Amino acid sequence: MRKPIIAGNWKLNKTSHESIEFVTLLKRYVSNVSDVDIVVCPVFTALCDIKDVLLETNIGLGAQNLFWEDAGAFTGEVSGLLLKDAGAEYVIIGHSERRQYFGETNQTVNKKIKAALKSGLIPIVCVGEVLEEREQNKTTKVVTTQMKEGLEGVSKEDVKRIIIAYEPVWAIGTGKTATPGQAQQVHQLIRQLLTQMCGEDVAQRVRIQYGGSVKPENIAELMAQPDIDGALVGGASLKVDSFVDIIKNSCVMKT
Ligand code: 13P
Repeated sequence: MRKPIIAGNWKLNKTSHESIEFVTLLKRYVSNVSDVDIVVCPVFTALCDIKDVLLETNIGLGAQNLFWEDAGAFTGEVSGLLLKDAGAEYVIIGHSERRQYFGETNQTVNKKIKAALKSGLIPIVCVGEVLEEREQNKTTKVVTTQMKEGLEGVSKEDVKRIIIAYEPVWAIGTGKTATPGQAQQVHQLIRQLLTQMCGEDVAQRVRIQYGGSVKPENIAELMAQPDIDGALVGGASLKVDSFVDIIKNSCVMKT
């Protein structure tokens, strides 16, 4: 059985003060949750501050990006080494906003995955098609290429540690969620690809999150799908109430 994992991607939101306030409340509401892994991913500058609030809680800490070198003349970048130092355990890699606005490619995603693993971080690797690709029936092709190129040269042992997030770009921040059936179809494809690349044992262990307009009202039907193991939540993770409701509603029986 894969343990569900609900992660909040706060994107470019919340000061350190607001982040501390949020997790201080959150940890009270979810202190008795043990059957779901919970992660928050604030901006870099809040990591150190909220690390202390999260000590000895059931809430993990993640960053939203990293650079693949540990140190050197790379103005403005942050490495895996520094993220670990700041208290992060997870790091989101290849989010569609990074691909769209910051020129990330499957090749840079691949370097970042390897760097994250080397630093002892758990990568949350995002894949997903844009609307035009879905309309042209290219979803399978796009996701297959993202998976194969992104994970190129990553050992089977390391793939076991990775989390994949399927985020159809047309569902991000739009209020348009993929139907549970649409999401399951791509999650199943991702698990088949993992089986081809790393074998059944690894594929059955890897957790695959869904992301794109996840809310308290739709999480249960998504989680009921056999290959959906959690969610990467944007907008609805910014409010304690809705994030807590998503966490609580995510504990459902699989079909
Ligand atoms: P929304 O939940 O706001 O659609 O964002 C999803 C997302 O991009 C999470 O990484």
